[in-house]
Amino acid sequence: MPSMWSLIATLLTYLQFAGAQIDYSQHVNPFWGTVGPIPNYTFGGGAVFVGAAVPFGVVKLTMDTFVKNTSIAALQGGYTPNGLITGFSMMHESGTGGCSKYGVISQMPLTSIEAPVNLLDNRTYWQERVGEDEASVGYFKTKLESGVTIELSATHHAGFYQYDFPAEEKKHVLVDVSHYLPNVVGGYCTQTYREGEISTSEDKKSYRGHGTYAGGFNEGAPYTVYFCGEFESAPDETETFSGRNQFPGFNSMNPEPLPWPSFASENMTTPQGSRVGAVFTWAGNTTTVRSKVGISFISEEKACRFKDEEITSWDIRATVDAAVEQWNRDVFSKIRVDTGADANKDHLAMLYSSLYFMHLIPSDRTGENPLWESEEPYWDDFYTLWDTFRNTVSLSHLIQPEAHESQIRSLIDVWRHQGYMPDGRSGNDNGMVQGGSNSDNVLADAYVKGLRGAINWSEGYAAMVKNAEVPTNGSNKEGRGAGADWLQYGYVSQAMPRSISRTVEYSLNDFALSQVARGEKPEDADKYLRRSAGWQLLWDATTPSVNTTPAFTGFLTPRDRNGTFNQTAYNPATCGACSWPSLTYEGTPFEYSFTIPHDMQSLIEAMGGRDRFEERLDYIFVPYTSQADLGPNGAGINTIMNIGNEPDFATPYLYNYLNKQWKSVKQSRAQSRQYFRNTPTGMPGNSDAGALNSWLIWQMLGLYPIATTPVYLLSSPWFSEINMTINGNATLRITAQGLGEDSYFVQGVRVNGRPWGRNWVEHGHVMKEGGEIEFVLGSEPVVWETGGVPPSPGHVVL
Ligand SMILES: *[C@@H]1O[C@H](CO)[C@@H](O)[C@H](O)[C@H]1NC(C)=O
Ligand SMILES: *[C@@H]1O[C@H](CO)[C@@H](O)[C@H](O)[C@H]1NC(C)=O
Ligand SMILES: *[C@@H]1O[C@H](CO)[C@@H](O)[C@H](O)[C@H]1NC(C)=O
Ligand SMILES: *[C@@H]1O[C@H](CO)[C@@H](O)[C@H](O)[C@H]1NC(C)=O
Ligand SMILES: *[C@@H]1O[C@H](CO)[C@@H](O)[C@H](O)[C@H]1NC(C)=O
Ligand SMILES: *[C@@H]1O[C@H](CO)[C@@H](O)[C@H](O)[C@H]1NC(C)=O
Ligand SMILES: *[C@@H]1O[C@H](CO)[C@@H](O)[C@H](O)[C@H]1NC(C)=O
Ligand SMILES: *[C@@H]1O[C@H](CO)[C@@H](O)[C@H](O)[C@H]1NC(C)=O
Ligand SMILES: *[C@@H]1O[C@H](CO)[C@@H](O)[C@H](O)[C@H]1NC(C)=O
Ligand SMILES: *[C@@H]1O[C@H](CO)[C@@H](O)[C@H](O)[C@H]1NC(C)=O
Ligand SMILES: *[C@@H]1O[C@H](CO)[C@@H](O)[C@H](O)[C@H]1NC(C)=O
Repeated sequence: MPSMWSLIATLLTYLQFAGAQIDYSQHVNPFWGTVGPIPNYTFGGGAVFVGAAVPFGVVKLTMDTFVKNTSIAALQGGYTPNGLITGFSMMHESGTGGCSKYGVISQMPLTSIEAPVNLLDNRTYWQERVGEDEASVGYFKTKLESGVTIELSATHHAGFYQYDFPAEEKKHVLVDVSHYLPNVVGGYCTQTYREGEISTSEDKKSYRGHGTYAGGFNEGAPYTVYFCGEFESAPDETETFSGRNQFPGFNSMNPEPLPWPSFASENMTTPQGSRVGAVFTWAGNTTTVRSKVGISFISEEKACRFKDEEITSWDIRATVDAAVEQWNRDVFSKIRVDTGADANKDHLAMLYSSLYFMHLIPSDRTGENPLWESEEPYWDDFYTLWDTFRNTVSLSHLIQPEAHESQIRSLIDVWRHQGYMPDGRSGNDNGMVQGGSNSDNVLADAYVKGLRGAINWSEGYAAMVKNAEVPTNGSNKEGRGAGADWLQYGYVSQAMPRSISRTVEYSLNDFALSQVARGEKPEDADKYLRRSAGWQLLWDATTPSVNTTPAFTGFLTPRDRNGTFNQTAYNPATCGACSWPSLTYEGTPFEYSFTIPHDMQSLIEAMGGRDRFEERLDYIFVPYTSQADLGPNGAGINTIMNIGNEPDFATPYLYNYLNKQWKSVKQSRAQSRQYFRNTPTGMPGNSDAGALNSWLIWQMLGLYPIATTPVYLLSSPWFSEINMTINGNATLRITAQGLGEDSYFVQGVRVNGRPWGRNWVEHGHVMKEGGEIEFVLGSEPVVWETGGVPPSPGHVVL
């Protein structure tokens, strides 16, 4: 007789297998969020990657484009809905704003390489598209005006290219090692090509080499990518070329003509720093050309191995099918809802596409760290923790426990070897801290939920202490650039950029330290808890709102180092560009004045008590209250509440702290229904590494996590039955009886079968061993909660 445990194990295997049998990938809409408010432009939209990739893949293969109106080009994700194609490259980010990063290791099919085509000048061969682009999970297809159709697929470290050339045309494939995504608006973080090398095999079928690139969003140090490519059939001619590296330092549209290449029919040794490439030509009747390319950060040999081991068939379907299976098994089947004929197809698309966009970055580069030897896992493309700490990592904790633990180990290993954990990291280099040192929040969120595994928490805590105690003095690279003020005054003075948003974030960061200190170094806990009240030092109870009805008093306010508040010309509802030099980053002081998740009790008191707090919260959802001009970056949002940027993510749920959960449901549902739609334009801002998407997933689950604490606020689910695989093997079941189009107000809740009077649950209740949350929904808003409001574990009276 098999033991009960083996029966259960078999059953679990069966259930997981059964889950994986459903092809959730068909619900993914890869084009969701590809267009912003200006028709046909990515700018202000999701800026998502559209192309071929596996979850957390190193390779994200798609086109690179040039868009003529450079002020709104937004080339970061590679794909743009219109624009001229300059190549198809292996590495991309997803959902990011700012300067472009990557777009390296490319191929480009050409039907002519004769003058005026200059292989060193993409403007002489770039291509419009014809017809509609096609994309699905693990697959991308487009057709160029030259008549060439391109299909792409990908594995973790390799890409598959398939070209169908018109029979009557010449068939060439260009490999330009010096190709990278330009930053068309110019400026400090433009990428550069440093040097490269390419060699071809004697049978002409293969090529290998490396390219070195620097810059981009994170102003990163040079990094080197090794590549190894192979064609299915031998070309009739293979030539290498090189040319002077005359890329303009910035602004790609330098009118100067570029130099012409010099060719060689065999391996060419090129002076350091030259541009190099190769061009492959087929003269016979074959119209289909297939190629596979591996990349590595370690060596050409490894790149070749990845190519050979990960892509073993010349049938692109095999690579696509493997990608689809991996996405279904490792990602989509973690959240199972009814996909039957009656299911709302848009809701399915938004759920599974959100899961998809949430798993494109960071990139799992374990085994591919060129900088130091380590047994620890290695991840790159944290782009950025400022975006993902708020709720993305909490979802990863549940549905990707192994990857999440691995990422945290990798963050700590970066501290171990490079001195600081990153907030942003890409191309093997830390870079760009927008606010606080938010790796602190990421670690604390895992710690309070009991994640231990192979994480060395005494070192994790030491890495956090480094952030908290060793300021980086004006730098935006890592750590706390305004930490010196914070240590000396307890707040960030207006002498430093982003003084208000940094104060808010450092407060939560130090709360995060206090949370981990409780277990790792209890004698530190009170110090950091006290410091986490620093936001109160920027709270000027006399600061008035400007141009609001009703009027509100008491806001985070700029303050001098000598302690004087500066209300001169201060309107909390504006922040200029809300960017690097502003008082607040990607949100106004009005919005940041709501973002104290660890001490809502003090915040509500600071705003004048429950009623005044509620009135102010109501106000920010009133149409046309926004006084900040968000331009095309605002997705038509005209309320102070701005779901398109991360600072306000938790704000619609704050009514739970007043025991008026129905209002949280009403506001958060309205935000999602108005701004998230299953259309190319239906994402209200950059997806930001999937941060906007994970926000929506939580909304659909009927939960919202308060990061750095074990608390989840309850809202209202979008599906009548949700089965989640969490914490490895456990099942969290969420049901919604009475759910309907207009029937989504909570009437009552049961947790693990017991009636539940609180509008929040803790991690231990259902997220560890699994469990069940049963909602009863109706169309009437009711105050159903009878228990205490969600906790303020960082409550401090200064
Ligand atoms: C968008 O681009 C397509 C294809 O180039 C074009 O047909 C269409 O007119 C454009 N739409 C707008 C609103 O510009
Ligand atoms: C580029 O786009 C901006 C924003 O829509 C617009 O104001 C400007 O006129 C456009 N420039 C060109 C050359 O089309
Ligand atoms: C080019 O160099 C590579 C390695 O350096 C060598 O294997 C290959 O045979 C060379 N190709 C030609 C065409 O000489
Ligand atoms: C295309 O050429 C321009 C102008 O030389 C250059 O700035 C840009 O980086 C190139 N684009 C790509 C993707 O290589
Ligand atoms: C190529 O196509 C032409 C015209 O269809 C045909 O005559 C010729 O035999 C073909 N060549 C080969 C090598 O198949
Ligand atoms: C959820 O799990 C329950 C219990 O195993 C099962 O009856 C139900 O069909 C599942 N629902 C979905 C949508 O997977
Ligand atoms: C954690 O790291 C510290 C410092 O390197 C080391 O002394 C300790 O043994 C490690 N702990 C574990 C459990 O590996
Ligand atoms: C920041 O400045 C302080 C005081 O000048 C100095 O002690 C500290 O080492 C600096 N920190 C960094 C990371 O450079
Ligand atoms: C504080 O410093 C500002 C200038 O930084 C100055 O205008 C103000 O008078 C000072 N206040 C006090 C009380 O010293
Ligand atoms: C007070 O704020 C105003 C408006 O930002 C600014 O112009 C002024 O320099 C500030 N005053 C001091 C003393 O910093
Ligand atoms: C699932 O549960 C089994 C049996 O308890 C355990 O051995 C296994 O490690 C668990 N798997 C994961 C991914 O947690």
